[in-house]
Amino acid sequence: MHRCVCICRLSVYARLWTNGLSKWAMNKESRTQNILMVPPTYFKIGYEINPFMRAVDGELKIVNERIARQQWDALQQIYLDLGFNVLQVTASETHPDMVFTANQLLPFKDPSNYNQLSFVLSHMATAERAGEVIFFKQWANERGYKTYQLNIGPFEGMGDALWSFENNKLFLGHGYRTHQDVANQLKKIIQKPVINLKLISPYFYHLDTCLAILDQDTCAYVKEAFDKDSLKKLDQHFKLKIEIPIEEARKSLACNLFCPDGKTVIIDQQNVDTISRLGDYKFKIKKVDTSEFLKSGGSVFCLKLAF
Ligand code: ARG
Repeated sequence: MHRCVCICRLSVYARLWTNGLSKWAMNKESRTQNILMVPPTYFKIGYEINPFMRAVDGELKIVNERIARQQWDALQQIYLDLGFNVLQVTASETHPDMVFTANQLLPFKDPSNYNQLSFVLSHMATAERAGEVIFFKQWANERGYKTYQLNIGPFEGMGDALWSFENNKLFLGHGYRTHQDVANQLKKIIQKPVINLKLISPYFYHLDTCLAILDQDTCAYVKEAFDKDSLKKLDQHFKLKIEIPIEEARKSLACNLFCPDGKTVIIDQQNVDTISRLGDYKFKIKKVDTSEFLKSGGSVFCLKLAF
């Protein structure tokens, strides 16, 4: 009897300790610590699932593998230099778009697991990319992370679901790769507010092509990509909205930038107007070349998963 009480007490203390520790860790780490990437070993344009992938001559664009690797290495080096822990999932030969690591998972602090990190699995919108998710599920489960499967779709992870980390809100883009009803199920799992935004232009088929959260009060956005109601919602949630010129957003995915710490903005070098606009505010710019990945409709933000 006495032993049983002791064991029960011990397990309660252990729980409180784990709980306290993970809360402490989460507060301290309210933003990015880890960057998950997939090397471009098999990256190519093997099919067309967005308006960027076909050239004007009607053929699928051709990727220069050597340049793609150099560009990816340089991007990875920026994350290492910024002090992040860079993790990798092995590339699969049959999944050329797997390199876009923002799309297969949504990381969140799991309220039903002592606020530990867990992941919601994507339910890809296209048959071409459906097989990618299993590699990420395996990666997460092998490391002890819980993964959640939605019973509704499609949903393309952090391509369409953007965290405002400091105030724990999730912005969810729908219309192309994610269904708007996903919001209700996500809300139940993550137990945080989910703000639905409607995307209305095929060039901005993921939310991360037209909205970038810079800090809790500031976003960069492409006005033309959203319906009127969604623009109003953005007004309500951000004190400062920096407008990205549509030409650059379409040509070189200016809005697919990444701000890991509220201060540094990593962005493709072609976006000169956007870079000068962001420079007018407090942001420190790190330019990269993602020209090979732009051919597939992706740039800085979607080449990693941050958590
Ligand atoms: N070719 C990929 C696709 O169409 C590009 C994905 C870019 N990812 C993103 N989050 N914007 O799915």
